[in-house]
Amino acid sequence: MHRIVVTGGAGFIGSNFVRYALGAYPDVHIVNVDKLTYAGNLDNLKDLDPARHTFVHADIANAEAMAKAMDGCDAVVNFAADSHVDRSIMEASDFIATNVKGVHNILEAAKKLGTKRVLLVSTDEVYGSIAKGSFKETDPVGPRNPYSASKAGGELLGLSYFHTFGVPVTITRGSNTYGPYQYPEKVLPLFVTNAIDGEPLPLYGDGKNVRDWLFVEDHCRGIDHALRHGAPGEIYNIAGENERENIVLTTKILQETGRDESLIKPVTDRPGHDRRYSIDASKLRALGWEPRMNWDDGIALTIRWYRDNEWWWRKIKSGEFREYYKRQYGQRG
Ligand code: NAD
Ligand code: DAU
Repeated sequence: MHRIVVTGGAGFIGSNFVRYALGAYPDVHIVNVDKLTYAGNLDNLKDLDPARHTFVHADIANAEAMAKAMDGCDAVVNFAADSHVDRSIMEASDFIATNVKGVHNILEAAKKLGTKRVLLVSTDEVYGSIAKGSFKETDPVGPRNPYSASKAGGELLGLSYFHTFGVPVTITRGSNTYGPYQYPEKVLPLFVTNAIDGEPLPLYGDGKNVRDWLFVEDHCRGIDHALRHGAPGEIYNIAGENERENIVLTTKILQETGRDESLIKPVTDRPGHDRRYSIDASKLRALGWEPRMNWDDGIALTIRWYRDNEWWWRKIKSGEFREYYKRQYGQRG
């Protein structure tokens, strides 16, 4: 694989993936297609070698632009998505346009061009909530919010293109990812940056919802592993194997940033808030992947990155984000 199209490569995981792939494979060239929504940020790509990385400002919902970008490429890895559950609860249209229609354009282009590999980056949220045990790839999907339903829609289209047209689609379902360059609407960077500033941490409901935390480089290696060693038509879970209640995560952030628990602000719960996510990654483990980052080191490294890179997030938090924050949290009490 020499020429790979990465969509959504100016976002959090996408930009980490581009950096990872360029570092791991000296002969790879990345064509990075991104619409630059509020979450897309060229600052995430500043240090990349322009000789091996081409940026294309385009929308995956634009069929012509996608076909043009994918022409001559060996593989496409789709990260492009509207990705925040709370925003999908406020307004879901963009989620359908990108996460379903956009994916359809990629599949159509791959069918016409004969693209050798199509990797759709998806999420453990498509399974829905689980009280005990962990979901396997053979379990049925049961998404419960507009974001996860749109991701499940994209996945199902992908599998239909594999079965009907032989398009070599592989799907990964990753768990909650954290690390450098994550937009501060997501709980971990939001709480870290609020704690640095001595601002309240708005904790939803009773704080006992559980997420499985996966370090971003482990997620990127997992996606790359599925792309290179996984089979078309197959789904691979990528787990952090590191489940924490939100209150435990919050307390950890407060300890690491030298703040006390008076900053915790319990607020009205997210509608339809999934209680617990948990996935079993033994299928990808059997192919040789495993998560490498332990929680204490991962969280320390991540907090250090936000401390050392205030230029990156202060710009974001003073822009579009302020309006969003007011709309999202203003009514929560
Ligand atoms: P993000 O919101 O940080 O980045 C999304 C990127 O996609 C941005 O650069 C944005 O500009 C771009 N984009 C959005 N709509 C587009 C469009 N129509 N055309 C082209 N580009 C578009 O998201 P993220 O957290 O990096 O997530 C990346 C992928 O990984 C998503 O598909 C998401 O569903 C999946 N995922 C995320 C997590 C997580 O915890 N963040 C976990 C599992 C899976
Ligand atoms: O599980 C994978 C998914 O993880 C990805 O597919 C999504 O793209 C990603 O956004 C993430 O979804 P979550 O909804 O789990 O992430 P979020 O950071 O929004 O919330 C994590 C948990 O923290 C969740 O239980 C809700 C809670 N939360 C979140 C925010 C933003 C709070 O308590 N307060 C907050 O302000």
